[in-house]
Amino acid sequence: MTTANALQQETAGLSTETLLERIAALKKEMNAVILAHYYTLPEIQQAADIVGDSLALARAAEGIDADVIVFAGVYFMAETAKILNPGKLVLMPDVSAGCPLADSCPEAEFRAFREAHPGALAITYINSTAAIKALSDITCTSSNAEHIVRQIPPEQKIIFGPDRNLGSWLMKRTGRDMILWQGFCYVHDAYSEVYMIQAMANYPGAELIAHPECRDEVLRHASFVGSTAALLDYTIKSPSQSFIVATEPGILYEMEKRSPGKTFIPAPKDPAHPRSICKQMKQNTLEKLYLCMLNRSPEITVDATLREAALRPIRKMLEMSA
Ligand code: 13P
Ligand code: SF4
Repeated sequence: MTTANALQQETAGLSTETLLERIAALKKEMNAVILAHYYTLPEIQQAADIVGDSLALARAAEGIDADVIVFAGVYFMAETAKILNPGKLVLMPDVSAGCPLADSCPEAEFRAFREAHPGALAITYINSTAAIKALSDITCTSSNAEHIVRQIPPEQKIIFGPDRNLGSWLMKRTGRDMILWQGFCYVHDAYSEVYMIQAMANYPGAELIAHPECRDEVLRHASFVGSTAALLDYTIKSPSQSFIVATEPGILYEMEKRSPGKTFIPAPKDPAHPRSICKQMKQNTLEKLYLCMLNRSPEITVDATLREAALRPIRKMLEMSA
């Protein structure tokens, strides 16, 4: 039976409530913990034990003492959880949910990039494959990237990848001259200045807040720039009542929950496509989450040698951002 057929048969006619109940029961039975990124669907965030941004989820994965980790996010996130927990069963609802930014940095090209800059330290975004992590000195997320770059001696040359927008933002923030890999996230890179200015005119009084994966032409209009968790925190603490949010709109679920009286407007990509959505994050459906737990599959595996090499820069990141 194909996966699609199994999905239809096992979950046909099940309501969201029933699926949530069954997932909760399986979680107990398996001694499992469900981790979900803020960009997943609201019902996935509802089913999860821990919802967070990339750094919070990596930290959570480091300290888990359950037998099974179920990761609702994109592939590199579940892979990172497996690297940190080689002895645990790590499951993912849909292993085809990759991150196009991570996939835009192939191993051979990145190796050549490193070799072209001998002596440079390689800091890479956690949105990268295990093979790229293995070629890197330090991993970072958007939450700790600035903090990590600031700890590097000023005379040390740095190469940064794969996200060029985050890299440019870090260069501006820290005054460091870094050599950038030219990758980007299609969700955040789709925002442009013209529609942002239009949105600000349409919603006077609303604060524009943005993720550093956005282009500089957008970031320069933002009153606050930060990782998904930092944006959430900002909206809770700011006295402003409305926000134009230039990041994946999955975070609006938690923002609305945490600040029920405030208004959150997803930043427009353009008038025809008002929301910039990460299709890969949305591949995690409740049906697939339930099935992966029921079948204890698909399982994430990482070759032992690759795991050892990829663990080093992740550990370095966790030490440097403790
Ligand atoms: P953060 O979780 O660090 O905000 O990164 C956003 C992202 O695009 C994750 O894939
Ligand atoms: Fe990758 Fe962008 Fe989706 Fe994050 S939002 S998983 S960086 S494509």
